[in-house]
Amino acid sequence: MEQSNDISILGIESSCDDTSAAVIRNGVLLSNVTASQAVHESYGGVVPELASRAHEQNIVPVVDQALKKAGVSKDELSAIAFTRGPGLMGSLLVGVSFAKGMARSLSIPMVDVNHLQGHVLAHFIEEEGVAKPKPSFPFLCLLVSGGNSQIVLVKAYNDMQVIGKTIDDAAGEAIDKCSKVIGLGYPGGPIIDKLARQGNPKAFSFSRPSIPGYDYSFSGLKTSFLYFLRDKIKEDPLFVEHHKEDLAASLEFTVVDILMKKLRLAVKDLGIRQVAVAGGVSANTGLRNAFYEYAKRYHWEVFIPKFGFTTDNAAMIAITGYFKYLDGDFCSIDKPAFSRVSI
Ligand code: KG4
Repeated sequence: MEQSNDISILGIESSCDDTSAAVIRNGVLLSNVTASQAVHESYGGVVPELASRAHEQNIVPVVDQALKKAGVSKDELSAIAFTRGPGLMGSLLVGVSFAKGMARSLSIPMVDVNHLQGHVLAHFIEEEGVAKPKPSFPFLCLLVSGGNSQIVLVKAYNDMQVIGKTIDDAAGEAIDKCSKVIGLGYPGGPIIDKLARQGNPKAFSFSRPSIPGYDYSFSGLKTSFLYFLRDKIKEDPLFVEHHKEDLAASLEFTVVDILMKKLRLAVKDLGIRQVAVAGGVSANTGLRNAFYEYAKRYHWEVFIPKFGFTTDNAAMIAITGYFKYLDGDFCSIDKPAFSRVSI
């Protein structure tokens, strides 16, 4: 059989509640298949035990579909990239074990990927027929998800430094918790986003942290939101009902303002004007608009990911795996999953 010089990477993501597989050939995305888990909605949050069980059910069909959609047979794969962490241990173990077993049976290398680096490198996913500018190094990336809020200085594909991070809750976590308090579903982020479009962002004001440097804090905002509602409901039991849109808009406005002010400080101090955003919360309309506004006002060059690449997906794992593959940075079979680690 003729040898091909193509580099085809299968990426596998299973760090939380999305089972995802993607195929990238020579840096270009051929498929990205994700099975989300609706089972958690009724619990108001991800239930780790249920998540790992669902991954176990989903992983084989998701990988099978990703390969079929890409038109790539398993024998054509050059390597398998997988999320090794951080994330929920039970969820990670499904993807990690599957990737190890499949790579071993095909006698191809494995590439372990840090999930957070994957979010940042989602900006480098190429799609056939889609021309999207990519940031050049060094750039700053605001990484905001349900579990993380950090400012990352990205010096190269494989060289990133967290220069600021939350000292308590993540931005997405704070939004989700506040939305739960006003009786919205899970996850609250997309619901708050929708409601906020019809509300007044300046209707109510909530507490903002005052901590030094580039670090974030969102637990005070959450408490302030809770106490504010407790007092208002005493006066008007239907307060939430009457002000849902304004509450959503004011909450979103506060979170976005906190995120952007620290980011601006970092941009000013470091003199880096290429600024990207990544992670689940980067789907938020208010945050995206703030990026465009800051770009105009402060002459930033901004990079905002396609919606499909904001939340957890395997395309970002496959592209990170591709760059590591080019560096010859492989993973041995004895490397375990890790639940907590920084970039
Ligand atoms: O990156 P992600 O899919 O998972 C991890 O946490 O790793 O992020 C999930 C977070 C949740 O908190 C969710 O509410 C939030 O992203 N999110 C949003 C929006 N879409 C998702 N938050 C605000 N506005 C949105 N449109």
